[in-house]
Amino acid sequence: MKLTNKIVVITGASDGIGKQIALRLAKEKVKLALIARDEVKLKKVCSNAKKLGATQCKSYVCDLQKIDQLGKTVKSIISDLKTVDVLINNAGIWQKLNPIEKINSEIIDTVIQTNLTALIHTTKLFMPTLKKRPEAAIINISSKSGVVAQEGQSVYTASKYGVRGFTEVLKEDLKGSKIRVAGVYQSGTNTNMFRKTGDNFSTTGLTNPADLADVVAYMLSLPKQIWLHDVRVEY
Ligand SMILES: NC(=O)c1ccc[n+]([C@@H]2O[C@H](COP(=O)([O-])OP(=O)(O)OC[C@H]3O[C@@H](n4cnc5c(N)ncnc54)[C@H](OP(=O)(O)O)[C@@H]3O)[C@@H](O)[C@H]2O)c1
Repeated sequence: MKLTNKIVVITGASDGIGKQIALRLAKEKVKLALIARDEVKLKKVCSNAKKLGATQCKSYVCDLQKIDQLGKTVKSIISDLKTVDVLINNAGIWQKLNPIEKINSEIIDTVIQTNLTALIHTTKLFMPTLKKRPEAAIINISSKSGVVAQEGQSVYTASKYGVRGFTEVLKEDLKGSKIRVAGVYQSGTNTNMFRKTGDNFSTTGLTNPADLADVVAYMLSLPKQIWLHDVRVEY
């Protein structure tokens, strides 16, 4: 896909991997619509994205867990930018490592709603617009935890296996359409995601989120006849 002036929506773009994807795609002169809850951080990402080459960047404050807010946000994006070519479902949260009996109900609900339910709703809401484009793409940022069972991650893993299942069916449903669908399954990445839950293990030596953003930019910039639909990344 030729990325210049393509309209790209990224969820969870205020920090970590989503922020790096926004900054990397800015260099391809895309138009960005960035979604997250932290307005200050989002605005800073937009300002830096414009300096790097984004032809437009707008930030949308939205808690993806709230379906009414999400619906309004999607409407605003389509009204502001007229259409959408690429949806990158990236927003997600970690679940502090624990056996299931030690994970409280609120955390179970928040992790599933943020990582899985919101991703499904976001995709559904943008689908009519994406279907109108001559070429379009949906990239779902899952995790190695969407493919491999790892101790203490039951709820996070359930959400990420869910994303993989959803992605696989989307690929089938959209076969023959102009929308390409891919899942990204990366192992540990050097962001603050773990620390935000109180898991303080070292992330030095894990994948650099800027390098992962290069992978996403590469996936999107390949010619029409090449589509990497299932990308596994390890450090
Ligand atoms: N880091 C890793 O090791 C790793 C490995 C594999 C997969 N992943 C996946 O990669 C994705 C990005 O992770 P990351 O490491 O970049 O995490 P991060 O640095 O903590 O960033 C998470 C992003 O998601 C947004 N977000 C979280 N909850 C939200 C909500 N309710 N509504 C709207 N936005 C929300 C955050 O923005 P606000 O707080 O401003 O809302 C932030 O922009 C996640 O799906 C994660 O599961 C990460």
